[in-house]
Amino acid sequence: MPDTILVTYATSHGSTQEVAEAVAAALREMELTVDIQPARKVRSLEGYSAVVLGAPLYMFRWHKDARRFLARHQKALVKRPAAVFALGPFYTGDEAEFQGSREQLDKELAEFPWFAPVDVVIFGGKFELENLHFSYRMFMKEIPATDLRDWAAIRDWANSLPAKLR
Ligand SMILES: Cc1cc2nc3c(=O)[nH]c(=O)nc-3n(C[C@H](O)[C@H](O)[C@H](O)COP(=O)(O)O)c2cc1C
Repeated sequence: MPDTILVTYATSHGSTQEVAEAVAAALREMELTVDIQPARKVRSLEGYSAVVLGAPLYMFRWHKDARRFLARHQKALVKRPAAVFALGPFYTGDEAEFQGSREQLDKELAEFPWFAPVDVVIFGGKFELENLHFSYRMFMKEIPATDLRDWAAIRDWANSLPAKLR
């Protein structure tokens, strides 16, 4: 699979997986060969020409499966173009919230100074109290359910990837 793009993701409640699936579908519509896998299941990047890695932010940290993916595949990632997306903002969805999430992500990525993604983007996230562990439910119970994922923006970003990942 010489030109296969790997779309890989971390998720706790599924919303990032759905974004990864939308990115993969958009790339396939552009006649690209795409493999989609949870980050924790990827054993090797052999055979992949490029990588798209997506994961949510939780408690100011990028999902641990994404951080582990970077650490585990350092050698292969320095030789391949990679693009990154993160899900985060779920409350006001305003610029300041997006900026805050971006700063959290940048701080996380700074722990991998060798990693030079061709593009990094924040997408709005999804919030549902019901799915959460009860310890979170206690202090988040006033927050209404939201879904700030902008599917048009996700699609536009996916459409921009082939040129960047070349
Ligand atoms: C307990 C909790 C903590 C969160 N912490 C952050 C955070 O620190 N920064 C952020 O940008 N988003 C935060 N989020 C928003 C998540 O990134 C968002 O809900 C995302 O869509 C979850 O992805 P998943 O469904 O793939 O697990 C948090 C959400 C929850 C429920």
